[in-house]
Amino acid sequence: MSEPRPVTVIVLAAGEGTRMNSRIPKVLHAMCGRSILGHALAAGGELAPERLVVVVGHRRDEVSAEAARQAPDVQVVVQDRQGGTGHAVRTVTEALGDLSGIVVVTYGDMPLLRAQTLAALVREHAAAGNAVTVLTALVPDPSGYGRILRDGSGALAAIVEEADATAAQRAISEINSGCYAFDGALLADAVKRLAAGNAQGQEYLTDVVGILRGDDHLVGTVLAGDPGEIQGVNDQVQLAQARRAFNGRLLEAWMRAGVTVMDPSSTWVDVGVTLAPDAMILPGTHLEGRTSVGTGARVGPGCLLRDTSVAPDAMLLYSVCESAEIGPGATVGPFARLRPGTRIGPGAHIGTFVELKNSTVGEGAKVPHLSYVGDADIGERSNIGAATIFANYDGMAKHHTTVGAHVFTGSDTVLVAPLTIGDGAYTAAGSVVTEDVPAGAIAVARGRQHNSPGWVERKRPGTGSAAAAARARPAEASGTEIPAAGAPGTGAPGTGAPAGVADAEGHEGARDR
Ligand code: UD1
Ligand code: CA
Repeated sequence: MSEPRPVTVIVLAAGEGTRMNSRIPKVLHAMCGRSILGHALAAGGELAPERLVVVVGHRRDEVSAEAARQAPDVQVVVQDRQGGTGHAVRTVTEALGDLSGIVVVTYGDMPLLRAQTLAALVREHAAAGNAVTVLTALVPDPSGYGRILRDGSGALAAIVEEADATAAQRAISEINSGCYAFDGALLADAVKRLAAGNAQGQEYLTDVVGILRGDDHLVGTVLAGDPGEIQGVNDQVQLAQARRAFNGRLLEAWMRAGVTVMDPSSTWVDVGVTLAPDAMILPGTHLEGRTSVGTGARVGPGCLLRDTSVAPDAMLLYSVCESAEIGPGATVGPFARLRPGTRIGPGAHIGTFVELKNSTVGEGAKVPHLSYVGDADIGERSNIGAATIFANYDGMAKHHTTVGAHVFTGSDTVLVAPLTIGDGAYTAAGSVVTEDVPAGAIAVARGRQHNSPGWVERKRPGTGSAAAAARARPAEASGTEIPAAGAPGTGAPGTGAPAGVADAEGHEGARDR
């Protein structure tokens, strides 16, 4: 027998959500890579209804925009006043007209509800031939919920809201989840007959149960196996609880599929993440968006990855990566930052305090320490020396640098883009490279060193440095009189220079472009 398929799923999301104390509408708060509403729409959508409907009211523009983002085919119905859950459904039945078939009603603020729970509700509803089937739960603390009333034979009689309940009814621990499967035509008729003569002055959807039973239709219940699923989100505390529960569920599924998660309590994944068997996720790691991690790869501790693909056997430590691709066997970090458009080749190494943006690093190439690589292609097996900076921005536009294969840049090289460094070329440490370097050449673009002998004893008399210099002076020279510091006629070039600019000659490579 094929699964019964609801004609319509209605997600109620018109409520205000004041207890969040937030400028963000309640159902738009994020949790595991989707809004709260997105989770509800995903669960409803999995039933493959002909129509997915969301009822909006408070902050309707933002809420309906998010609904359309999450479910492009969603139909938005506006409830212009908060007349109660029954009023919300009546607004839909009046807007849609013909509703024959099964209609499911759920809430936009119940992100833990599983699609399979709703599917079981629909299955039981169809099999029993009910006019309404209510998803119920047994909870230790039923306060705030509608209570399930049963007749002498144990059959569902009615639902009573807490505000309208007697003390004896309040003691009932079976509660109404707020999710139902209805016969659509009977629902459309029943919601027209709802009265608002209750404690809250609202049209209660729950009263439909009593109405349908009064018309001698069959009504029934399905008990939720996991009462945690029907936990709504009303404040920030419940949001955190729901997030942890959902995250735990995702991690459990990955662990059952063969992923090693060392510390589930400090590992966070979004619904769009995929992890291969034998991937290993270490503590303090956040995997967001459409991140994927291949088999044998190790991520963490301390990584934040968004929309990043990590190929098999790669290793990342304490790093932040966004929209990056990390090749097989590559290593990243500790303390690397990969910004969008970074592609790290197979077996390449990105080391400590290195930032890359919109750049490719070839197979086996290395950027081990303290570097910035922006808008560049680095060829295979090249070694980018410590503190090499790809100066890609001239204050107006970004420029590209191409580094060939087997290139070696000396420490503290600045590559001023646009620039091409040929295959096998070298740059000397401390060079500011502004012109292309042909294959196989070495570029030396730095000031030439000049030593001014005896400068410290002349210019810094009485210091520890001067004393050390005196002790280090060759024996035959010791005892000779040292001219007073700054005295005219000492003759040595550069004697007046401050210590930091002693090599004041030969700045042949440091011109501005
Ligand atoms: C409702 C049920 C209660 C159940 C509980 C489960 C009724 C009368 N009561 O109570 O039996 O135990 O849910 O959580 O249905 N909404 C609208 N328009 C409205 C009113 C509500 O869209 O006019 C939406 C809200 O945004 C929310 C949902 O319906 O998503 C539930 O509304 P809420 O006011 O929280 O209902 P409860 O009083 O908690
Ligand atoms: Ca509620």
